[in-house]
Amino acid sequence: MAGQTPVASKAKTPKRAVGFSVPLLYRVFFLLIEPISALVGAYFAYFRQSDYLQLSHAASAPSTVPFGTSIALSQLANMYLFFAINEALVLRSTPDIRVWKTVLFCLLVGDLGHLYTVRELGLPIYWSVWDWNAIDWGNIPFVYVSKMPYPDKFTGFQVNGPETWTEFHKNEFQPKPFGDYDVDIKIDACGVCGSDVHTISGGWGEQHFPLAVGHEIVGTAIRVGPKVTLIKEGERVGVGAQSWSCLDCRQCKNDNETYCRQQLDTYGAKWPDTGIISQGGYSSHVRTHEHWVFPIPDALPTTHAAPMLCAGLTAYSPLVRNGAGPGKKVGIVGLGGIGHFGLLFAKALGAEVWVVSRTHAKEADALALGADGFLATADKGWNEPHVMTFDLIINTASSFEGFDIDAYLSLLDVHAKWVSVGLPEGDGIKVRNQTFLGNGCFFGSSHLGSRREVLEMLQLAVDKGIKPWVEEVKIGEEALAKTLLRLEGNDVKYRFCLTGYQDAFGA
Ligand SMILES: NC(=O)c1ccc[n+]([C@@H]2O[C@H](COP(=O)([O-])OP(=O)(O)OC[C@H]3O[C@@H](n4cnc5c(N)ncnc54)[C@H](OP(=O)(O)O)[C@@H]3O)[C@@H](O)[C@H]2O)c1
Ligand SMILES: [Zn+2]
Ligand SMILES: [Zn+2]
Repeated sequence: MAGQTPVASKAKTPKRAVGFSVPLLYRVFFLLIEPISALVGAYFAYFRQSDYLQLSHAASAPSTVPFGTSIALSQLANMYLFFAINEALVLRSTPDIRVWKTVLFCLLVGDLGHLYTVRELGLPIYWSVWDWNAIDWGNIPFVYVSKMPYPDKFTGFQVNGPETWTEFHKNEFQPKPFGDYDVDIKIDACGVCGSDVHTISGGWGEQHFPLAVGHEIVGTAIRVGPKVTLIKEGERVGVGAQSWSCLDCRQCKNDNETYCRQQLDTYGAKWPDTGIISQGGYSSHVRTHEHWVFPIPDALPTTHAAPMLCAGLTAYSPLVRNGAGPGKKVGIVGLGGIGHFGLLFAKALGAEVWVVSRTHAKEADALALGADGFLATADKGWNEPHVMTFDLIINTASSFEGFDIDAYLSLLDVHAKWVSVGLPEGDGIKVRNQTFLGNGCFFGSSHLGSRREVLEMLQLAVDKGIKPWVEEVKIGEEALAKTLLRLEGNDVKYRFCLTGYQDAFGA
């Protein structure tokens, strides 16, 4: 037996020499690039999850998939796999069964990782190349490099808090991770809404700062997620005051997504999965789920379409939902941004429209905009000639100072409706049941509108040639301060629209 040993070892030597001949490139890839990329992937997945999701694009927003640990571990398993393959193949074939066991073990762990991803995200995740890359974790650096043309940080004019609400600072911020249904929009224009002032000045209470407001956005879709079907890259599109809802509840399924209990605002809201605060249109870009991204008809100028996406819609939705049309007498309380759209759309729908303003200062404008009549509440007995004659009143007042609700409600016919869309600061007003008794009127409210209503409204604006009164302002720190103070001081005819984004943020 002792004499056989050298023979056995002799027999092994040529076997080791036979092995595979592996090209140098292949060796470099498995020995160097793959292990490094696996490590980088593990680092991103575990320590910088939001960057990771951003890169890998694997999370549909808002998703609650607990990726970090599982992916990081799988990433490390992949790395061992590369070393094992390397030892088995690159360093010539080996008879050592332990190496092959390691290879099999790592393959198993890797596959479990893939199965986990499929379970969480659904089988269709495998159809898309990007998503495939995302779950093939070793490829993260390559995904990163190939995605470089897309900005992963946006820039916006942010306010730091209510004490300094007229000081705007141009800052970079991290948007939510890019989801399968998301659209990135390079912004060209954004309207300035009364809500922007309430929010940053602290009138509505605590907010998440630093914050870029603005929710009447028009721009170009520069990137669409793999599951997006409603928007095409390169299209001119808009975004209003809402950016998400569940799309699954009773309200969402009935064109009432604006009343979904999970509805999320375009700015100042916390994305539930990441805690990232949504930032609005005083920014270079916005990232929005396709359901809240609207193609803008060619016939509408950008600066006309932008203010329609909050102010226009907030007026349009309650008008159509409450029967404004031929034979109806509609009142619009407050001739500001929303009010002037209320007037334009109610006229376009065929109603008789009266503006109810505080003074006569805006009377000539109201008539020029098409109003059939004008009431100024500063006049003594202003309501008397019109008591119980209105079918619908949309109230857009942004404050309750001197607000005589009884006088307004006296205008309504029997069972007619008062719809408040204005959201004044403070505790609100008291109303007594007796106030409603004389005409049995209904008292309600309205929030934004649905996607279907946005598309209908834009089409109506095209069909009827609606021309809002818009004052353009080039976006910048000083211009923003001045513009918001003017809006707060009721010095606007009748909507500001920010432009000049190219100069402020670059191409
Ligand atoms: N419900 C929603 O979905 C929704 C959406 C967007 C905005 N909003 C809210 O709607 C309100 C209006 O927004 P906006 O952008 O149209 O603002 P805006 O351009 O400032 O217009 C507000 C108008 O309200 C009238 N007004 C102000 N204080 C008043 C008072 N004490 N009594 C009676 N009328 C008063 C003024 O009209 P006159 O000078 O003619 O009296 C003013 O032009 C804001 O509170 C905003 O936050 C609600
Ligand atoms: Zn608004
Ligand atoms: Zn919902």
